Amino acid sequence: MHIDTRMEVASRIAREAGAILRDFFRTMESYELKGRANIVSEADKAAEDFLVQEIRRLFPQDGVIAEETEEQDWGQSGFVWVVDPLDGTTNFVHSHPHFAVSIGLLKDKEPIMGVVYAPVYDEMFCGVRDKGAYCNGVLMSVSKAALLRSSLIASGFPYAREEQILAPILERVQRILLNAHGFRRAGSAALDLCYVAAGRLDAYWEEDVRAWDMAAGLVLVEEAGGRCSSIEGGVCDIFQGKIVASNSKIHEELISVLFR
Ligand code: IPD
Ligand code: CA
Ligand code: CA
Repeated sequence: MHIDTRMEVASRIAREAGAILRDFFRTMESYELKGRANIVSEADKAAEDFLVQEIRRLFPQDGVIAEETEEQDWGQSGFVWVVDPLDGTTNFVHSHPHFAVSIGLLKDKEPIMGVVYAPVYDEMFCGVRDKGAYCNGVLMSVSKAALLRSSLIASGFPYAREEQILAPILERVQRILLNAHGFRRAGSAALDLCYVAAGRLDAYWEEDVRAWDMAAGLVLVEEAGGRCSSIEGGVCDIFQGKIVASNSKIHEELISVLFR
């Protein structure tokens, strides 16, 4: 089946999953942790069940790797869908509108298509390898910033709140604050990548992310003229947990400030 068919399906189901999330959003009555955890798992689960069911119904030979489903199914067709039904959970439980549905597609283990939908903003980011990346139908391109000191840089932090894990990351954040125009932590890795693609951020890096956080956004960044790499500057393997994504112009400088 043609890639365009998969793209049509991906954007339709991302929009529908987004509507499911919107129905749960801001319906919490209690801010108690238990209440929050419940509503999140309900929203996550409802969106993911819908997405996985649709993918399996329409592409039974394809594999599916989804955040809430433990088992990874690599399928038989060479195509594998990599799904985060709700990226930005912490925002979501705090009624903060910055969250998204993220759907990536791998072919022979390489990301070739990405769809990220932010339901509250009604922004649909999508792209296919060699065919460009779009936001609500408008072609995206990365920013023009050529120097770190004129750049806005984003990152994210791991859920593990142990000092020895956080300290080196915070030290790198300080280096960014000292060397760049600004630093942001918005709370959705998938949208951070979309924002690099759209030229709203000049770069983003993170050191403990999963395949479903990155699969879609990586394609969008590269198709918008940016670059994604490992923290050493090599190929970014979405199963290795670390990513540096940029407008490509500041990539080397960013890596050397962060990791050398
Ligand atoms: C998280 C978000 C966050 C990033 C974390 C992710 P979740 O995903 O993308 O921005 O910093 O590493 O785990 O838990 O909201 O799906
Ligand atoms: Ca996520
Ligand atoms: Ca998630």
